[in-house]
Amino acid sequence: MKKDLLKLLDLSGEEILKILDTADQLKFSQKHGIAHDKLKGKTLAMIFEKNSTRTRVSFETGMYQLGGHALFLSSKESQIGRGEPVEDTARVLLRYCDGIMIRTFAQEEVETLAAHANIPVINGLTDFCHPCQVLADLMTVREHKTVLEGLKMCYIGDGNNMANSLIVGGLKTGMEVAVACPEGYDPHPDVLAFTKSDPNFKFTLCRDPKEAAVGADVVFTDVWASMGQEEEKAVREKAFVGYQVNKELMALTNPGCMVQHCLPAHRGEEITADVFEEHAEEIFDEAENRLHAQKAVMYLLMGGED
Ligand code: CP
Ligand code: NVA
Repeated sequence: MKKDLLKLLDLSGEEILKILDTADQLKFSQKHGIAHDKLKGKTLAMIFEKNSTRTRVSFETGMYQLGGHALFLSSKESQIGRGEPVEDTARVLLRYCDGIMIRTFAQEEVETLAAHANIPVINGLTDFCHPCQVLADLMTVREHKTVLEGLKMCYIGDGNNMANSLIVGGLKTGMEVAVACPEGYDPHPDVLAFTKSDPNFKFTLCRDPKEAAVGADVVFTDVWASMGQEEEKAVREKAFVGYQVNKELMALTNPGCMVQHCLPAHRGEEITADVFEEHAEEIFDEAENRLHAQKAVMYLLMGGED
């Protein structure tokens, strides 16, 4: 049966770790010039209904490095933007391609696409989640800290797609997760239900960023107004006052605490310029690891496994 990557809720902790191990191996091969053209002759269709820099470039480059080819399909220039049903798009693309990556608004669209395509579907971001980003994030934290289990992850800001995936990915890999969001901007109810599904999970949701930051080993944040929420920008700027990753907040964390940001970052809003620059090396490692983590996902899902 074909496998997809639609959301981290669908994966076990072991499956997440297997992706991270494969990503480490593929990164090693790429850095050492070892051939790893494991998807030779395969094609990935990439559907974008929202903007992107990292996701597009890392999937396209990753597919090329694996010996395959990626096609960029913008909703504006394809029939998707003119209302062709996603079910039909799925049934067409499966006749040409070996996998589909999609970035869109509703999670349901990705689930429907996957239900109608007998080829792997990879979620490149929805309003609900951003699984590829969080695989890269976990890979980066593990690279810097050696293990994930027992570390404390803190997330400050909007309970958005990044928060949803970080909570699930962090808890499934044995991390403690503390989230601080303003009232009205909590993570998705399905994700909050998941945090209660295992008595071993260490999860807290609070209103005070300082409370969440105490003893953290890695601090995450993200934009206050995500793609599609541009009209809410002014309201959100007021609601998120105080939900900023700055020096004062970082003083409460553990020594050597990392800072991660999926990018693009908004200096002076969710993060200060000084904290960003102090942790720039880790943040750009995180951006680089999109390439390696997604190569692992494509290799494992698109039939490249030996
Ligand atoms: N972090 C991330 O997904 O970046 P892009 O929006 O540039 O793809
Ligand atoms: N939460 C952000 C993430 C961007 C990579 C958004 O959805 O716009």
